Amino acid sequence: MKKRTEISKILGFPPLNAEVTVMGWVRAFRSNGFIALYDGSSAKTLQIVVDFEKFDENLLKKISFHACIAVTGKLVESQGAGQTVEVLAETLEILGESNPEEYPMQPKVQTMEFLREKAHFRMRTATFSSVFRIRHGVAYAIHKYYNDRGYYYLHAPIITGSDAEGAGEMFRVTTLDVGNPPHTEDGQVDWSEDFFGKSTNLTVSGQLQGEIGALALGKVYTFGPTFRAENSNTSRHLAEFWMIEPEVAFYDIEDNMDLAEDFVKYLINYVLENYPDDIAFLDQRIKDAEKNMKLEDRRPMGLVDTLRFVVDNDFERITYTDAVDLILHSKEYKKGKFEFELEWGKDLQAEHERWLVEKHFKKPVIVRNYPKDIKAFYMRLNEDGKTVAAMDVLFPGIGEVIGGSQREERYENLVQRIKAMGIHEEELWWYLELRKFGGAPHAGFGLGFERMVQFITGMGNIRDVIPFPRTPKSAEF
Ligand code: 4AD
Ligand code: MG
Repeated sequence: MKKRTEISKILGFPPLNAEVTVMGWVRAFRSNGFIALYDGSSAKTLQIVVDFEKFDENLLKKISFHACIAVTGKLVESQGAGQTVEVLAETLEILGESNPEEYPMQPKVQTMEFLREKAHFRMRTATFSSVFRIRHGVAYAIHKYYNDRGYYYLHAPIITGSDAEGAGEMFRVTTLDVGNPPHTEDGQVDWSEDFFGKSTNLTVSGQLQGEIGALALGKVYTFGPTFRAENSNTSRHLAEFWMIEPEVAFYDIEDNMDLAEDFVKYLINYVLENYPDDIAFLDQRIKDAEKNMKLEDRRPMGLVDTLRFVVDNDFERITYTDAVDLILHSKEYKKGKFEFELEWGKDLQAEHERWLVEKHFKKPVIVRNYPKDIKAFYMRLNEDGKTVAAMDVLFPGIGEVIGGSQREERYENLVQRIKAMGIHEEELWWYLELRKFGGAPHAGFGLGFERMVQFITGMGNIRDVIPFPRTPKSAEF
């Protein structure tokens, strides 16, 4: 194959007056002979100038929307506005035709729903290529952040026998014949006959294994896929999503909040610094889409301003009890503007969280010290005996991006919580032993990777920031 130069390299350090070869896909071929070519390496397209006299008409006809081509020609300064350089095509080769009559993608604005059904082509659009470049950038920044600070990347298992969150929203993993499984004498399915000799499922969280790591290596993080069989058809839920879970020995809830805030600010800064063209494109995209909207339906700030605002300001930190108080005394609550009633002891609904973040504080909020009964068994009981050292980080437009806690390191307390929540103690024998032998105070949290990418890219639906979304009734591609 002939050697090609990536468009990002050409635009970054233009080798003016040199001959270059580029390969990529056609975003537009205008009647004046200009091709906008992209190859995935940049948010910007490279302009190719085609002299119609020089090329065969049949070849030119094949340069259609999203066809794949190779071009060789001289790189020169551009005469027109909108780009600094352009390639004067000397040779043109069609690498992959794209019959416009049959190709489902069209060179016009198409709905996100339509594009989701065309996940094999949607990455070719400017929007999705920017989203997935940024998704990569965030993933890289996560590893860099923790590596630079002496954390170890721990691979938690994907198949597990435990339900870390105790919420029972798990996908079963089995090799038994589901139509005709073996039974025990009392008529139950005999899981001891299954592949692992026990009942297993896809993990909902790597936290419990992360704790094993933290109590030996000091500072670890997991970063892997997690699975939840919750039937939530919302713009914030996926059945398969990625989670980053740092777990740190000798950290309490205060340290945990500091880490969470520093970490997410770092990720946003990293993208602002390293993906300015993609962010500028997505910012403009939102502005264009909002042009015809009523003022009150538009976002209060543009994408770049929103991101800068988050990194430049301290997050608000309040207790659950104070949060409930604020909501109950708000004029919106008194006027019955909320769908769900709230009282101390009930979980905050998304609408309550959004009021706190978007209406009241107008910045990210960390809510801590939730009632013990609405949180997982492993969270450390506070001195009041009613609340646990939990923390949720809430973001504008997204809601919860992080959930975490200081962990219950006291053996007796933990056993009590496990019993009270009706969890089988035997399944967690190893987790309990961690408290018996060389236990330590420790804390950690989970960041929803897609929710973070959603916030940074400004995309309205979480399904549009993961290449191949898995949601109820949908697992195509
Ligand atoms: O709050 P969650 O359930 O916390 C845990 O799983 C803890 N074990 C984390 C820990 O302490 N190590 O989930 C953590 C985050 C949420 O804040 C949210 O951002 C994301 O994971 N999340 C989802 N993202 C997409 N789709 C879903 N169905 C999600 N469920 C949770
Ligand atoms: Mg949570």
